[in-house]
Amino acid sequence: LVHRLLAARAAALTQRATALVAAPVVVATALVRDGRVLAAQRSRPAALAGRWELPGGRVEPGESEADAVVRECREELGTIVRPDGRLGTDLPIEAGVLRVHRATPVPGAPEPRPLEHRDVRWVEPHELADLDWVDADRAVLGDLAAELLSQ
Ligand code: C5P
Repeated sequence: LVHRLLAARAAALTQRATALVAAPVVVATALVRDGRVLAAQRSRPAALAGRWELPGGRVEPGESEADAVVRECREELGTIVRPDGRLGTDLPIEAGVLRVHRATPVPGAPEPRPLEHRDVRWVEPHELADLDWVDADRAVLGDLAAELLSQ
C-alpha cells in the first residue's frame, strides 16, 4: 500500500513539474531609477483596467527573458532598458508563470510613456502598498521595497 501511495504521489509530482516546465512565461519589469520603480496602470481588459502592474508580457518562442523585457518596455513604454537579473520567485498566474526582472534605464533613453497603459508613474518604496496592484504583482512588493531601499 505504501508503495502504491508513493507511486501515485510521484506521478502527481511529475505531472505538476511537467505543467510548470511547459507553462508559458510572462516577464514583468521592475524598472528602477533613483530609488523608485515604474508602475503602469492597465487599460484592459475591463476586469483589470485601473489596476497597477509592472510592465511586461509573454516571452515569445526562441526569445530570452531578458530580450522580452527589453522588447516589452520598448513597445509599451517607448523606452530602452537594461535587464539586471531576477527579482523574487516564480509567481503562478492564469496565463502560466510570471517572472519579475529588475532593469535600469539606458542612459539618455526616452522617459517612459503609457503607450499601451492608461498611465505610468514612478513609485517610492513607502507608496508601494497604496497602489491597487494586480494580484500576482502584489506578491513581489516585499522584495521590491527591499530592492528600492537597498540602493
Ligand atoms: O499584458 P498581457 O495581457 O500580455 O499579460 C499576459 C498575462 O500576464 C495577463 O494574464 C496578465 O494579467 C498577466 N500579467 C501579470 N502581471 C504583470 C504582467 C502581466 O499578472 N505585471
